[in-house]
Amino acid sequence: MSLAAAYRLWAPLYDPVLRRATAPVRRRSLERLQAEPADDVLLAGVGTGLDLPHLPAGPRYRGCDITPAMLARATGQRAVALDCADVQALPYAEAGFDAVVAHLILAVVPRPAAALAEMSRVTRPGGRILIFDKFLQPGQRAPLRRLASPLLGRLATRTDVVLEELLAERPELGVEADDPALAGGWFRQITLRRHPDEAH
Ligand SMILES: C[S@@+](CC[C@H](N)C(=O)[O-])C[C@H]1O[C@@H](n2cnc3c(N)ncnc32)[C@H](O)[C@@H]1O
Repeated sequence: MSLAAAYRLWAPLYDPVLRRATAPVRRRSLERLQAEPADDVLLAGVGTGLDLPHLPAGPRYRGCDITPAMLARATGQRAVALDCADVQALPYAEAGFDAVVAHLILAVVPRPAAALAEMSRVTRPGGRILIFDKFLQPGQRAPLRRLASPLLGRLATRTDVVLEELLAERPELGVEADDPALAGGWFRQITLRRHPDEAH
């Protein structure tokens, strides 16, 4: 079963399961957008749109997701353009966004390094990537999570992703903030900033 097929099954259950538990973290993460009214913001893997009620007014928002059934639930909630697209191969121009929101997507996809590379590519120099997701710490053994990850990764999400390993491949991104969010710090709220000077 593909991940998109799995999320087609998750779509009707997603909001009742996750809305309440994740709302405070979404609010805190999106407070860090620091977006100007003329900004363009991408919600990568927008899902059913649980972030949408917390978005500040002003910027232009665009969301993408690979699962039409998830996108269908995000449709019409507020003025957000929606595309069916793979975050590992984004159909957007380089540096086309002032910020990218990456909530519960980097550790979900099979190729998180490709997804982060794409998010970085579409973020303008000086722009931000806001992440809320679950990551193992570098060197953390977590045998159950590592063992279960191949199966869980097909059903919903990987559980073995180490953000620092992804960042090692992205010298153009710096960490502005990294805070524990949920589950004893397994879930973290992270702000990345693309270096304003491309010659970093
Ligand atoms: C855990 S949900 C997160 C949704 C939303 N960002 C949120 O915070 O509630 C993961 C989402 O990633 C989407 N997804 C999975 N693989 C994807 C891919 N390769 N490209 C784009 N979206 C993908 C799924 O369809 C699902 O909507």
